[in-house]
Amino acid sequence: MTDQIIAPATASDIIHEKLLIIDFGSQVTQLIARRLRESSVYCEIHPYQNVTDAFLTEFNPKAVILSGGPDSVTREGSPRAADGVFTLGVPVLGICYGQQTMMTQLGGKVESGHGTAEFGRAFVTPTEAKLAILDGWFEDGKEQVWMSHGDHVSEIAPGFEVYGTSPNAPYAITGDVSRNFYAVQFHPEVHHTPNGAKLYENFVKLAGFSGDWTMGAYREQAIAAIREQVGDNHVICGLSGGVDSSVAAVLIHEAIGDQLTCVFVDHGLLRKGEAEEVVTMFRDNYKMKLIHADEQELFLGELDGQSDPETKRKIIGKLFIDVFQKYANEIEDAKFLAQGTLYPDVIESVSFSGGPSVTIKSHHNVGGLPEKMGLKLVEPLRELFKDEVRELGVELGLPKSFIGRHPFPGPGLAIRCPGEITRAKLDILREADAVYIDQIRKHGLYDDIWQAFVAILPVKTVGVMGDGRTYDYACALRAVTSVDGMTADYYPFEHDFLGETATRIINEVPGINRVTYDITSKPPGTIEWE
Ligand code: XMP
Repeated sequence: MTDQIIAPATASDIIHEKLLIIDFGSQVTQLIARRLRESSVYCEIHPYQNVTDAFLTEFNPKAVILSGGPDSVTREGSPRAADGVFTLGVPVLGICYGQQTMMTQLGGKVESGHGTAEFGRAFVTPTEAKLAILDGWFEDGKEQVWMSHGDHVSEIAPGFEVYGTSPNAPYAITGDVSRNFYAVQFHPEVHHTPNGAKLYENFVKLAGFSGDWTMGAYREQAIAAIREQVGDNHVICGLSGGVDSSVAAVLIHEAIGDQLTCVFVDHGLLRKGEAEEVVTMFRDNYKMKLIHADEQELFLGELDGQSDPETKRKIIGKLFIDVFQKYANEIEDAKFLAQGTLYPDVIESVSFSGGPSVTIKSHHNVGGLPEKMGLKLVEPLRELFKDEVRELGVELGLPKSFIGRHPFPGPGLAIRCPGEITRAKLDILREADAVYIDQIRKHGLYDDIWQAFVAILPVKTVGVMGDGRTYDYACALRAVTSVDGMTADYYPFEHDFLGETATRIINEVPGINRVTYDITSKPPGTIEWE
């Protein structure tokens, strides 16, 4: 809803140059935002239903992009852009569905099908006329683009001219230079339109953006916004040691110093050395007020004898909230709770299909806390994508090795220990994991892998070491490549690496006598084992 804009004191309030992306439900709308951010332009995505004329006045965009979408403008009642978009006097770029609604709304025509649908790679060739947003295009006489349309523009709106055509899209690129309206049938934001980023870069240049979206500027703006929002009050922050909560904590600490208290819950399911690392980093180096809540007995006690994955997750999730609340209650005049919410969580994409999605796993979060405790939220990362959070972390002086760490899930080692969790198994798992990660680092593979860990299996196997029989646990190594954790592929280690790692684990970790490598992709597997 519009609270992304009117909520007080987010950094975007202080950023003057904003581009508005109106979302018609395309699968790749987020990529438009990524491309623009790469050009140091601040933009926000809002679903078309929310973008009223009043919204436009308040948002005050310097340019507007109309995204693609799955609907057909020929269908009665299909989505439209608010008319105000075309009277604001700012540059507008329509993409695919955005192009078609733009043409329809400005007096052109769109037709369905009739053999002109186009899906996949196509080549656009230029017409005689030149267009500023196409600077650097057509150097080889044509450009590869990615098409995905059933409908096509059959008549362009008055004032528009054609600047590029493809075999199935005679109006692949059109524009009305006098009004700075541009429209393309293809998707310049996707990888398969190799020169697409250049088109966005030209568009924002033409719209007069100065490129004020830098991490240095963001840091200053975010600090000012946090101070304004929080005033003299106290903020509490659940610090997990992950990148998002760490960067949020350091940023807030820079803004309000001792008015911030972090709570680090040690549930006994952390990796080797992790608790010490977090405490040293934040309490000793950054001099933050940090409560190290050692609640291992509580969590491991409640988990004792439990082997069902969902039950384990639910126990951890509930205890986490109870424990956090207990410590937070001890902090006087805490009025705010800091969260490391990121922009992809904020974007409300338009749901055309409706239907509830299936719960694969109950993800661990502290979602219900603010209402329960009557706290307001401070979310200083809600305008950022993950890679921007990393950039901000470096800007704030967090070590690169810390910022680049693989993601670690809230329920920790519990979901890497299928079956019953025991302290003995956790200790073995911690050691094996440390050897595996050491191997990956030594071979220079850490940054190529999205996430890597060991899972200890609920099965003992027979082995032979020296002259003796062993009967110890088997473990599985997991390493995946991924962009966002939604899909993943297993990492293709060399056989020598796997052999060497297996030998090291078996030699160095008492309790494990067999090592396997998990070669399942996601889907059908998930990254974690539970
Ligand atoms: P799956 O196993 O669902 O994991 O393929 C995808 C990514 O999410 C992480 N993960 C979690 N992160 N709380 C978290 O903060 C959770 O409950 C949780 N479960 C899975 C997992 O490590 C992977 O990066």
